[in-house]
Amino acid sequence: MKIAILAGDGIGPEIVAQAVRILEALKSDGLKLELETGMLGGCAVDATGEPFPEVTRRLVTDADAVMLGAVGGPKYDTLPRQLRPERGLLGIRKALNLFANLRPAILYPDLANASTLKAEVVAGLDILIVRELTGDIYFGEPRGVELRDGQRVGFNTMIYSEAEIRRIAHVAFQAARKRNRRLCSVDKMNVLECTQLWRDVMTETAKDYPEVELSHMLVDNAAMQLIRNPRQFDVMVTGNMFGDILSDEASMLTGSIGMLPSASLDDRNKGLYEPIHGSAPDLAGKDVANPLATILSAAMMLRYTFDHEAEAARIEDAVKKVLAQGYRTQDIYEPGMKKVGTVGMGDAVLANIVG
Ligand code: IPM
Ligand code: MG
Repeated sequence: MKIAILAGDGIGPEIVAQAVRILEALKSDGLKLELETGMLGGCAVDATGEPFPEVTRRLVTDADAVMLGAVGGPKYDTLPRQLRPERGLLGIRKALNLFANLRPAILYPDLANASTLKAEVVAGLDILIVRELTGDIYFGEPRGVELRDGQRVGFNTMIYSEAEIRRIAHVAFQAARKRNRRLCSVDKMNVLECTQLWRDVMTETAKDYPEVELSHMLVDNAAMQLIRNPRQFDVMVTGNMFGDILSDEASMLTGSIGMLPSASLDDRNKGLYEPIHGSAPDLAGKDVANPLATILSAAMMLRYTFDHEAEAARIEDAVKKVLAQGYRTQDIYEPGMKKVGTVGMGDAVLANIVG
């Protein structure tokens, strides 16, 4: 099991280091892991002049899975778009054909008070957002800013082929089948033709999954319903841009974006695993960032790419125990709890893994 480790920028190296400690511990227990490190994002720009250099491309193409921290930072915001760290991330998603992005939003019972919503609204929350990741307005052509009749005009293209919609539909239906068998597809068909096609293909694909109940929701309503009554959702499936927005929103239902892992998969379950939060430059180097989303991403990797359910569950159980024991990084801290830093949180998880 070859894993490429791309720590990235900002808090990336700190949080990835904690996930690597967990993987190393499982390796000493006999799991056959091979870890190799590489560069993506701003650090790669600094070292090679490109956010997704050829050496990294080769590394991740060879690997079975990729563990990523986060990319980006203010230092790079003024670079031309092609050289920005975010381009590295979009580049790797596209290069590896990682079209299926799974973003679970789970509320740990011990963190019910960390959410800004009332505990009774979010208690027991367990949503899976399936976001299409290699199409839509993120990659559509034509795109750009140009002069037309003496003024600047900016444009992007929202585009989906039915094949692209169908393959993410299958991922979502299959995920729903393993859960509570309810799938809500999110679109904006009252305005956008592209998403009318999205809705039509979702409805056609539903015929293959009679045991799953499919519903449709417009994206503005979905944003509202996530706050009003989030527990109505089981699995949500949506396009790249709506999924970007709704998954950040869903993360906050759980108290902290620092808790949520993600998996981005191709059609053979090769995957890239990353926390859904960003590089948080303001927190970098201070040993305060929450490493749990990255540690939980390692669990997702063992489950989805390597089919090691027992080890994945072992990591997830350790995280639950650590929360029950009262360990909290600052983002989820409440008075009376034990405040720890990034490394301290890693120590606590490790103690529960080996202990
Ligand atoms: C995410 C991020 C990325 C995205 C950015 C950093 C390009 O927000 O993974 O959600 O928009 O997909
Ligand atoms: Mg995002």
